[in-house]
Amino acid sequence: MDGPEQVRARLEETGYLVDDGLAIACFLALRLHRPVFCEGDAGVGKTALASALAEALGAPLIRLQCHEGIDASQALYDWDFPRQLLHLRAAEAAGVKDAERLERELYDRRFLVARPLLKALQTQPSVLLVDEIDRADDEFEAFLLEVLSEFQVTIPELGTLRAEVPPVVVLTSNRTREVHDALKRRCLYHWFDHPGFARELAIVRRRLPEVSARLAEQVTALVQALRAEDLLKPPGVAETLDWARALDALGASEVDAELAVATLGSVLKYREDTDRARGLDFAAVLAARGA
Ligand SMILES: Nc1ncnc2c1ncn2[C@@H]1O[C@H](COP(=O)(O)OP(=O)(O)OP(=O)(O)O)[C@@H](O)[C@H]1O
Ligand SMILES: [Mg+2]
Repeated sequence: MDGPEQVRARLEETGYLVDDGLAIACFLALRLHRPVFCEGDAGVGKTALASALAEALGAPLIRLQCHEGIDASQALYDWDFPRQLLHLRAAEAAGVKDAERLERELYDRRFLVARPLLKALQTQPSVLLVDEIDRADDEFEAFLLEVLSEFQVTIPELGTLRAEVPPVVVLTSNRTREVHDALKRRCLYHWFDHPGFARELAIVRRRLPEVSARLAEQVTALVQALRAEDLLKPPGVAETLDWARALDALGASEVDAELAVATLGSVLKYREDTDRARGLDFAAVLAARGA
C-alpha cells in the first residue's frame, strides 16, 4: 500500500475505521516490517485491527492467544507424540534395529506440529495476532522477543526455519502489567483511546446498518456520557455495539431514559457501575441530542 490514506481506505472497506495515528502506524508496520503494539482498555478494537488488516491484505489471520503459563510448545511447535509412538511400534514390529535411523525418522517434519508462531513464519503472507501479551509471563515475553527480532526459529532436530517474508504482526495488551521495554522497542506503539462521538457513531452505523440512525446516535451519546462517569470499567466500542444491538432486538428505533436504564446490563458489567450510572441524567443527555 502506498501510504496511510490507502491503508485507511482498505481497512474501512472491511468495516474497520481508523484515525490518522493508527493509519500511520499500520502503514509503517507494513512498510518497515515492524510489529504494531496495541495497548488500550477492553473493547476498543485492538483485536479487531488484526482481523481487519488480514482481510484488507487478503492474508490469513493466525492467532496466538496468550495466557498465564503459555510456553514455546504451545506457541511455536510441538512433536506429535502419539504418532511418533505409533511409528516407533510399527518400526519395531517390522524389525528395524537401527537406532540412529529410527531417531532421524521420529523427528521428521511430518511429526512436527506447527503452533501459531511457526505457522506464521511458514505462511506468506500472513497476519500474526499475539493477543493479550500482558497475560503471559516474563520468560515467554523474552522468547517472543527473540522470534520477532529475527523472524526465524531453530528447531534442534531440524535446523533453522526462516520466514522469507516476515508476517505482519499485531501485539495487543490490556495493560494489566507493563510489557518490557525491550519488546516494545521492536514495535511501533499505538495507544487505543475510546473514540470520540463522531467516530464511534460512524463505527456503529458501519457495523450495524440495520439499527436506526436515531438509535445509533442516542446510544453513542449515552455511552460517551457514561465514560465521563467514574466507572470501574468504562464501556468500550464492543459495549456500544452490544447496547445498540440489544435495543434494536427489542424493536426500539429510539431510546428514552427509562428504556436506557432498563437495558444497562448490555453495557455495564459491574454492580457498582450500574449504581453509579443511575446518577447520570439520561434524559438530559438524550435531550442534548435533540431527543
Ligand atoms: N475502529 C473500529 N472500527 C470498527 N469496529 C470497531 C472499531 N473498534 C472496535 N470495533 C468493534 O468493537 C468490538 C470490540 O473490539 P475488539 O474485540 O477488537 O476490542 P479489544 O480492544 O480487543 O478488547 P479486549 O481488550 O476486551 O480484547 C469488535 O466488534 C470490533 O469490531
Ligand atoms: Mg481483544
